[in-house]
Amino acid sequence: MILAAGEGKRMRSPLPKVLHEMGGKPLLYHVLFQVQSVLPHSSLAIVVGHGREQVEEYVLREPLFKTLKVNFILQSEQRGTGHAARCAMDSEWGKQQVQMKNPVLVLPGDLPLISSLLIQEMTFPLKRGEALRLLTCELSEPAGYGRVMKRGKNGPVLRIIEERDANEKEKRIHEVAASIYFFQAEFLKSALHRLSNHNAQGEYYLTDVIADAAKAKRKISVLLWEKEEDLRGVNDLWELMQADQIMNDRLIRFWALRGVRFLDGRTARIEVEVQLSAEVVVDSGVILKGLTRVARGAILGPRIVLTHVEVGERAHLKVGTVAEHSQIKADAQVGPYAHLRPGSVVGVRCKIGNFVELKKTNVGENTSIAHLSYLGDAEVGRNVNIGCGFVTCNFDGRIIQGQRKHRTVIGDDVFLGSDCQTVAPVTIGKGAYVASGSTITEDVPSGALAIARSRQINKSNYAQRIKKIKEE
Ligand code: UD1
Ligand code: CA
Repeated sequence: MILAAGEGKRMRSPLPKVLHEMGGKPLLYHVLFQVQSVLPHSSLAIVVGHGREQVEEYVLREPLFKTLKVNFILQSEQRGTGHAARCAMDSEWGKQQVQMKNPVLVLPGDLPLISSLLIQEMTFPLKRGEALRLLTCELSEPAGYGRVMKRGKNGPVLRIIEERDANEKEKRIHEVAASIYFFQAEFLKSALHRLSNHNAQGEYYLTDVIADAAKAKRKISVLLWEKEEDLRGVNDLWELMQADQIMNDRLIRFWALRGVRFLDGRTARIEVEVQLSAEVVVDSGVILKGLTRVARGAILGPRIVLTHVEVGERAHLKVGTVAEHSQIKADAQVGPYAHLRPGSVVGVRCKIGNFVELKKTNVGENTSIAHLSYLGDAEVGRNVNIGCGFVTCNFDGRIIQGQRKHRTVIGDDVFLGSDCQTVAPVTIGKGAYVASGSTITEDVPSGALAIARSRQINKSNYAQRIKKIKEE
């Protein structure tokens, strides 16, 4: 059971809390990901309320969770974690768990750093007579968390006191409850019906179920979790930033141990679905997002941003390069300061130089577009040399048959001089030459030389004439 109905007031944002992103994915993704890795066949209840359409839509859309069995439980008014759990236990899903005597693992949707190991240890079968297992942790700074009250120092658990209901002495307790429990279903259901909301927030607290079990002398086991970091909750944007950094550090460590050389792990940012390979070098300020994949030996950065980009072996992406939804093949060089917009493919051994922008453009093998150019909706062949300052004029302001942009085709072995434009739709045939400064408006046949500029006139001794005019 995952509690994800809360508004997350402290986030100060209209987005439901569990949809705020960490490592490029919503908080809820991280919880579901760990649950799925340990319990792929379990029947899942996600309690939703605030922003439920958005939360449900997200879970159903995420390809990774297609095989999860998810039941959305509506908590229409957010009256506390105990009320949320009660909504789930009173639903068809809850009835089924009770009937089948399935134990119920409860997780809040805002603990995105929990590990699969934690879930494994929490879901170890309960012993006969055991009402629940409670996860606790010793925190150096326990403020904000529910404190675990025990009889004596190591005696049985008596109850959990929320920060807002705690007195000064109770606030000095460092052992906290993380809102992770493993319940015997029948007990959970009946205890939830006995909850009251006589507390500082007027809410039904799930934590009060512990006192209920203790009073009834039911057995409560405690799993004391040593790794404080795993239990960092996200309640505001400050905590989100801290959790995000922890996640980023984990990912960098993960990839470093698989052979990726990070020159500055403090400034590199890697999202969770990025795939790297051994011998990749990641310089400072490199941001890798979405489904970016980088093959062996590629050199990235400094300061580049790749979103859904495939980078081939030994490709070199230089400072300031920004690329989205594109492919860069083996041994290509891109940048400094190149922009690959969606649908671009840079072929093997190509050179895309500074201030070059590509959009929906396929560049063949060993082609060079080295300086100050824009190519949109273009097909460029192999071994092409494009001089400085080339522009494909692909948009004429009209929309013809639903097409706004026109295509440019440049054949293999073409040589384009500097400062040319081609007005699309247009084709430059294989092996053709285009003279510098040409504006090409008509197709150029293969092997031809196109010169599309006015012929130069030299007026001899003209400078002297100007001088004379000035003096008069
Ligand atoms: C909760 C615990 C606290 C624990 C802390 C650890 C309670 C009363 N307190 O406090 O003991 O130390 O987690 O992280 O349980 N939610 C609902 N419906 C509601 C209220 C909340 O679904 O009506 C969901 C939220 O979306 C969230 C989770 O329950 O995912 C926890 O709620 P939150 O308000 O963050 O509780 P904390 O104050 O962090
Ligand atoms: Ca919380």
